[in-house]
Amino acid sequence: MKKNEMKRIYIDYFVNNGHKEIKNSSLIPDNDPSALYTMAGMHPLTPYLLGEEHPLGQRLVNVQKCIRTCDIEEVGDDCHVTLLEMLGNWSLGDYFKEKSIEFSFKFLVDILGIPVERLAVTVFEGDANFPKDSESYNAWLSLGIKKENIYSYGKKENWWGLGYGGPCGTDTEIFYDNFKPKCSNECGPACSCGKYVEIWNNVFMEYNQVGDNSYESLSQKNVDTGMGFERIYAIVNNKSNLYETDLFSDAIKKLELLSGKNYEDNLKGFRIIVDHIRAAVFILGDENLVVPSNTEQGYILRRLIRRSLRFLKKIECSEDSIVILSKVTIDNYKDEYPLLEIKRDFIVKSLEEESRLFNKTLTKGLKEFNKMTLDCNGYLDSSLSFKLYDTFGFPIEMTMELCMENNITVSIEEFNKRFEEHQDKSRLGAEKKFSGGMGNNDLNTIKLHTATHLLQQALRQVLGRDICQKGSNITSERLRFDFSFDRKLTEEEIFRVESLVNNQINLKLDINYENMTVSEAMEKGAIGLFGDKYEDIIKVYSIGDFSCEICGGPHVNNTSELGKFKIIKEESSSSGVRRIKAILE
Ligand code: ALA
Repeated sequence: MKKNEMKRIYIDYFVNNGHKEIKNSSLIPDNDPSALYTMAGMHPLTPYLLGEEHPLGQRLVNVQKCIRTCDIEEVGDDCHVTLLEMLGNWSLGDYFKEKSIEFSFKFLVDILGIPVERLAVTVFEGDANFPKDSESYNAWLSLGIKKENIYSYGKKENWWGLGYGGPCGTDTEIFYDNFKPKCSNECGPACSCGKYVEIWNNVFMEYNQVGDNSYESLSQKNVDTGMGFERIYAIVNNKSNLYETDLFSDAIKKLELLSGKNYEDNLKGFRIIVDHIRAAVFILGDENLVVPSNTEQGYILRRLIRRSLRFLKKIECSEDSIVILSKVTIDNYKDEYPLLEIKRDFIVKSLEEESRLFNKTLTKGLKEFNKMTLDCNGYLDSSLSFKLYDTFGFPIEMTMELCMENNITVSIEEFNKRFEEHQDKSRLGAEKKFSGGMGNNDLNTIKLHTATHLLQQALRQVLGRDICQKGSNITSERLRFDFSFDRKLTEEEIFRVESLVNNQINLKLDINYENMTVSEAMEKGAIGLFGDKYEDIIKVYSIGDFSCEICGGPHVNNTSELGKFKIIKEESSSSGVRRIKAILE
């Protein structure tokens, strides 16, 4: 069965059962600062699970692209991937456990033809706070799942939510038994030996998590289900693992040609390469803009690309293989995701640029690593792992892998501590005040000064929050803004920045200032250098909710006074510093 056919069968089944198909949303969650990437099909539906009315009704179905980096270490085994497509169906206060279980069972057994004996399921066993889920247990039993194939577990296995709050509840999970022998007497679906592969999770969302261990009942009882498309697709096509399906097989064949090596002899490395490139292609090809950087979504993207580059190097494959493999992925998915074709050039150029940047430091970094570990008594200090990151761009998992290969211990916690300290410092040090930026105070200069605040915030949103102002010069004709960034901006990035600024102008935002102490400004998240040179009380200018910056002024009263913002030049100013010149038309 082909992949689009399989997805269609799934959607049609639920549509025929009263569900409405909803769109496959962006990989970047809207309005959820707690998560970098969409992790589940329910993610974009959070407000509706909490009780808001959905315009398409109470029964929904879709295919949703998701990124899960929590499993990154497991990528390369038989059943983990970084980018996954999730087949989901939802009941928003409509049917509940019994019907949901029946829908899933009938889809797997009647529509896909999976033998009942192959299915094992798990249900919640109950604890001090939440009752045991007898309803699900009985529902499975009445459908023909044998008692010995129904397992009861606690919250660790049979509870699901996003982790940091929001809608959640007990779940029942469906596993495919590949009939390998049990690895021990205790072996069951919760065991990771590979006998049982989780395929579908039906979550009964009747609670809202409001604190660490604190839950409220929701006004409605929902069902949220998610089936890993890659896994069920492998099963339906009789493949022993998902890398052997046509989701990956073309890329693996191409990689064999490019490297002159066998997939079978280099299983894990090959799988990591094709998995990470596929995820990177989807991130770059998303409707929202993400580019490799050192923060947030961009940093995850950077790590995926760099990790695949290192594995390519290990099998002596040239770095342009990443581009060739990305094209195989685009070709494989462009019919279902037309944006991948539209953004093909952007995807390819971004990968080329990131490879170029990484290559500049990789060889030097590896040399440095060898030097550092020559005499390190089996332990790599976090000052060194951080140096590898900071100076040579080595993502921490790459350093960890190198250490593992050389029997050296390295602490990820220590590294993370340094990483966070560094992020704080660069945030504070990065953001400078405008002093001296303005030559005079005529109206045009003032307008351009306000536009510079908008520009800085737009750059932070498009390129990452760690870009930092290096200089500013404003005349009545144009603004000039220098900032730290290590490569030329793409046309698309320039367009995004301009559009963001012009959106704020069109939104007619008020500009206000408040006097406050330095610590109050820091708390408010204002941009600026929080150094000694500020007096105790400082002025903080806000432009709507968009920008907040320490500044002496002056500014216009409302963004509608600015006219149209246009970038007329983007060039290098000095090493690692870019310069933008812009005007107001
Ligand atoms: N939201 C549930 C999951 O991701 C279905 O497993």
